[in-house]
Amino acid sequence: MRLPGLIDPHVHVRDLNQSHKEDWTTATAAALAGGVTTILAMPNTQPPLVDAASLTLYEKAAKAKAVCDYGIFLGAGLHNAAAIAVEARRGIGLKLYLDATFGDLKLPGLDALVAHFDAWPKDRPIVAHAEEQQTAAVILAAQLAGRGVHICHVARRAEIELIRRVRERGLNVTCEVCPHHLFLIESARPARQFETLARGARAWSGAYAEVRPRLQTQADVDALWANLDVIDCFATDHAPHTMVEKESQTPPPGFPGLETALPLWLTAAHAGLLSLDDIIARMHTGPRRIFNLPEQPETLVEVDLDANWAPVGARQQTRAAWSPFEGWALRGRVTGVTLRGCRVYDGENILVQPGYGHNVVG
Ligand code: NCD
Ligand code: ZN
Repeated sequence: MRLPGLIDPHVHVRDLNQSHKEDWTTATAAALAGGVTTILAMPNTQPPLVDAASLTLYEKAAKAKAVCDYGIFLGAGLHNAAAIAVEARRGIGLKLYLDATFGDLKLPGLDALVAHFDAWPKDRPIVAHAEEQQTAAVILAAQLAGRGVHICHVARRAEIELIRRVRERGLNVTCEVCPHHLFLIESARPARQFETLARGARAWSGAYAEVRPRLQTQADVDALWANLDVIDCFATDHAPHTMVEKESQTPPPGFPGLETALPLWLTAAHAGLLSLDDIIARMHTGPRRIFNLPEQPETLVEVDLDANWAPVGARQQTRAAWSPFEGWALRGRVTGVTLRGCRVYDGENILVQPGYGHNVVG
C-alpha cells in the first residue's frame, strides 16, 4: 500500500544547545521512519528562534543535517512583532505561546498578542498554543486582524466544541490534534476506544506522562473522536527529552512521537475508528493546504497495513530512547520511503546523507 509523503506540522527538532535531546539529523530520520517527508519545526529552541540571527543559525544546521524536507517556525516574543514580521518569508509561519510550556516563549498580556496579529503578513500562517480561554482569545485576535489562525494540539472537549462553533460561522480557524490526546488519558492508561488494541501498554510513572497540553479525561478523548470532521491535521508535537531528564526532579513535558503516529492511526483504522482517507486528509492534504506547502514530486510512503509490531523506544531513530506507546500491539508499519525520486528509507535504515532535506520555503 502506498501513501503520499506525510506532513507533520508540529515537531520540536531542538539542535544547537539542546542537541543532546535531538538534532536535525535524528529528528528528520525519525520523521522518515514514521512516513513523514516534511516536518515543520517549532521555535522554542535554545537559543530561541526569535530573530534573524537565530533563524540563520537554524537554517544552516537544517541545511547541513536534515534528511527530509522541512519548514521553520519563527517565535513571537514580547518586543519582536515588527522585526520578526520582516523575516516572515524565511519561515513557514509564526508560533505564539499563550500558555506556559517547555522553554521561555510564553507571550504575556494582550498588547503583544494584538501587535503580532497586526504585524504578521496576512498570507502567512500564525499557529498558537492556546488552551481553554486562550483558544477564544486567539480566535478573537485573528478575527480583529482579519486573518486566520491555526490552533495547535487541541486536547479538550470545550476547545474542540468552540472550534466547531466558530467554523460553523465560517471563520478561518483550523486545528490539529496529537495521537497522545486521542489514545491516552490523564491516568496514563490507554483511552477506551483503544483498550483492546493496547494490551501490554507499559504502566509508566507520572513523570513520563508530563506533556503540554496535559493528558485529559475520557470525556475529552470522546469529544475529539466525535469531532474528527473539524480536525484538519494530525500533528505529533514530537517533543524529545532524554530518559534521565524525564526521571529527574523536574521532568520536562513532552513525548517523542514521529515514529509511532502513523502506525497508531493505521491501527485505529483497522479498529474501524477512522478510514485511510481520513488519515491522508489529516497527514497530507490538510497540512499542505494550511501551510501552502509545495508538491514533493516522485514521493511516496510504502506501508505494510498488516504488519503486527510493538514500538521499542530504544530502537527508534529519535534520540529520545523511549515511547509513551512502548509495547503497544500495533498493526501497520512503514516499510520504505521515496522522497523526490530517491529511496531514503528502507524500513530500517536511512539511505541518504545529512543535507538531503530541502527547506520548503526555498
Ligand atoms: C514541548 C517541548 O518539549 O518543546 N513540550 C510539550 O509538552 N508539548 C513544548 C510544547 O509544544 O508545548
Ligand atoms: Zn509543541
